[in-house]
Amino acid sequence: MSENNFKAQPGRNVVVVGTQWGDEGKGKLVDWLTETAKGVVRFQGGHNAGHTLVINGVKTALHLIPSGIMRPEVKCYIGNGVVLSVTKLLEEIEGLEKAGVEVRSRLRISEACPLILPFHAAIDIAREAAKTRAGTEKIGTTGRGIGPAYEDKIARRALRVQDLKHPERFATKLRELLELHNHALTTYLGSADMQWDAALSPFIVDGKIQFEPVFEQAMAQAEQIKPMMADVSRELNEAHKAGANLLFEGAQGTLLDVDHGTYPFVTSSNCVAGNAAAGAGVGPGLLHYVLGITKAYCTRVGGGPFPTELEWEKEGTPGYHMATVGAERGTTTGRSRRCGWFDAALLKRSAQVNGLSGLCITKLDVLDGLTELKLCVGYELDGESIDLLPMGADEIARCVPVYETLPGWTETSVGATRYADLPANAQAYLRRIEEVTGVPIHVVSTSPDRDHTILVQHPYAA
Ligand code: GDP
Ligand code: IMO
Ligand code: MG
Repeated sequence: MSENNFKAQPGRNVVVVGTQWGDEGKGKLVDWLTETAKGVVRFQGGHNAGHTLVINGVKTALHLIPSGIMRPEVKCYIGNGVVLSVTKLLEEIEGLEKAGVEVRSRLRISEACPLILPFHAAIDIAREAAKTRAGTEKIGTTGRGIGPAYEDKIARRALRVQDLKHPERFATKLRELLELHNHALTTYLGSADMQWDAALSPFIVDGKIQFEPVFEQAMAQAEQIKPMMADVSRELNEAHKAGANLLFEGAQGTLLDVDHGTYPFVTSSNCVAGNAAAGAGVGPGLLHYVLGITKAYCTRVGGGPFPTELEWEKEGTPGYHMATVGAERGTTTGRSRRCGWFDAALLKRSAQVNGLSGLCITKLDVLDGLTELKLCVGYELDGESIDLLPMGADEIARCVPVYETLPGWTETSVGATRYADLPANAQAYLRRIEEVTGVPIHVVSTSPDRDHTILVQHPYAA
């Protein structure tokens, strides 16, 4: 960074969002940017996220804890927009502590976060199983209970982090929730005939979630997380007033956004930049710069339309190259990620709904060795040409991509840290992405490692 004479503007904040279907490399970039940031906040999603950091060759996978945790001087916040499984949070904290990372004194959790409890995961899994039985297309959720937890929040009946401080209130609300959800589980979702994994089976008898084990576990966990409960909105606003640089860490990606994505094949939260304000408790005026993390090709895990999808299981194909060289396997569920060509029409939709200030292109190195590259610049839909991804899964599924073909490169870009060191054809590929999408590329990532990053213009620079 120093070679660019970079100086951070005090009080300037950056939002990091995924512009495709998630897994663009947000975690790596958040970790890299926290060399400058003093605080990192997650503002939506839950432990469906899987953000991978590689520091000096050592890999860390994070699901709930913000990707600033590997820098001891950085404070981490879980904002009110996140749905929180305390069980998973404590597991993640213990994993980091075993690796020598101090977490508890640096992590602040909003008391307003809705809780994810065992019945949310059971409903999520039972619904997907019911779809399989009915022969309808599954969403391909992570099975973590994300959707059902957001449903309880919007229905104004959720148990929240603050309820953990009030056992009687917690018990009353839990009983009401169990009555409702056990009815749905047994009557509509066939839960009594299902097999449950080791994490859920201690809570379920005859397809019904039991009050006692859920309540006892929650009360025992409450003691552990009480010291981390905080008024996150207040702390972020105070940090900002003191001149700190903050980072808002998005999870999932724009095409998984519940409003702007390929609905209904989406997650249950708003993943777009605008939600960083609502999900953290700051005003929109504090979101100064939006960095769109964008893979140099496309991937998607789970069901739903994907116009530029390639054959990715057949050896010798470009899709197989992306899947294997890019190690495209989910960080959270271990599922294979579907792979396809770069989609600039999709990116235009992302740029529009996020108000992107700049792009970070990741995994450029994965394309090394492909003889030619295709870039989707628009689609044909019902005989008409369009240049912007339509909204809605049905229309997207009918889109036929229109491609430009660009030459690939044989040289390696792995680990490059200067733009000028990239192969000429790689530079031409990046230039074409900028031209077609109209968004400038400010950062390029050339390996999983923190240090293998090319800085064109720093998001925190004045
Ligand atoms: P996130 O969910 O957006 O944080 O992304 P994930 O961590 O789920 O997936 C991105 C994967 O690509 C991780 O395994 C990263 O270590 C890896 N990665 C990130 N940037 C690069 C890059 O520039 N090159 C390569 N080869 N891998 C990268
Ligand atoms: P990160 O933050 C990729 C996908 C699931 C499924 C859909 C709905 O690592 O980019 P959910 O469990 O959220 O109800 O599943 O969303 N999905 C992700 N795909 N990366 C993620 O997170 C994802 N989080 C959810 O595969 O298609
Ligand atoms: Mg991921």
